Amino acid sequence: MHAAFFTRTGDASVIEWGELPDPTPGPGQVRVRPRAVAVDAVDVLVRSGRWRAPLAFPVAVGRDLVGVVDAVGPDVHDVGIGDRVWTSSAGYADRAGATAELVVVDRNRVYPVPAAADPIELVASLHPATTAVAALHLRAGIRPGETLVVVGANGAVGAALVQEGVASGADVIAVVRDDRSGATLSSWGAEVVVAAADEAAGAVAQRREGGIHVLIDTTGRADTASAVRHLAPRGRVIVLAGRTSTEVDLWTVQVRELRVEGFILSALSVDELQAVAARVGARWAEGRPIRAHVGEVLGFADAAGAHRRMESGGLPRTADGFVGRLVLVPPPVPS
Ligand SMILES: NC(=O)c1ccc[n+]([C@@H]2O[C@H](COP(=O)([O-])OP(=O)(O)OC[C@H]3O[C@@H](n4cnc5c(N)ncnc54)[C@H](OP(=O)(O)O)[C@@H]3O)[C@@H](O)[C@H]2O)c1
Repeated sequence: MHAAFFTRTGDASVIEWGELPDPTPGPGQVRVRPRAVAVDAVDVLVRSGRWRAPLAFPVAVGRDLVGVVDAVGPDVHDVGIGDRVWTSSAGYADRAGATAELVVVDRNRVYPVPAAADPIELVASLHPATTAVAALHLRAGIRPGETLVVVGANGAVGAALVQEGVASGADVIAVVRDDRSGATLSSWGAEVVVAAADEAAGAVAQRREGGIHVLIDTTGRADTASAVRHLAPRGRVIVLAGRTSTEVDLWTVQVRELRVEGFILSALSVDELQAVAARVGARWAEGRPIRAHVGEVLGFADAAGAHRRMESGGLPRTADGFVGRLVLVPPPVPS
């Protein structure tokens, strides 16, 4: 089979498009023929070695795929050949990567593709949607009526947080640094605040006397010390893009019983991922899927170029200012 793989970490030039042996599913595994694979920021972190994940070289790039089961392991009876499935667990922790013509995935890490979902649209949404669901429900424990502040709401994860926050009954404030995405974010049910990331908490606090219950910064530039000062009692800051350092006033943390909590999708257990996948699927079944903006569709062989664009900040933009996602599709299967 062909794959976009690497045999050592490094810059995007370590990605080769070439032949690897066809994999065979073992016990507890299925083999999937991907129809679409997402390019996520985390793929760049894994490939570059900046995030040290155990890797079974040669390993294909990519963690999210949507595809069709084409073989099953000897003891797998509840998933069959031809089933449409997705996973968000490929390509790290010694598992095979997604950008290959055939990918072996653990049975307990594949989930059914919703009937209404197009593979490209679904795969583009998986990383932001699973991040948003896990951060809001598993970490923040968001409750209806609570004020949720999303900094960087026009980004992929930010847009997913806004959609899931509104669907969960939160009072969602979407912070963006310009107003281009404002009309769309408002149509989703969010109040829009235009502010620099490092002034976001203060700008929102002026509008909510009761304080902020949950703040999630997707830009890595928000001022967490200021966010902590503006939290309501038992408020939470969920850190998922931790780029800076800050000094937090621990007296405020103590007397208001606040939480500043880290989150990384890669650390979720199989059970947690299944719960997240169930919520993502339920949103599709309700006709309110968490959507992402597909920026551009490229071939698997363009994986290195896609990584370069990701690293240079060259991601496509929608006309209304949202960051567009890159999706890779395999070459046509010879008939
Ligand atoms: N912890 C986890 O498990 C997890 C999971 C998924 C993603 N992440 C992380 O979450 C972050 C966001 O991912 P994403 O896919 O949503 O990225 P994205 O689509 O590129 O969005 C980036 C957002 O950050 C904003 N931004 C960029 N530079 C900025 C600056 N200098 N000042 C203010 N805002 C700025 C962008 O606003 P403009 O459009 O105005 O530039 C946009 O809103 C990344 O760091 C990613 O690694 C973490």
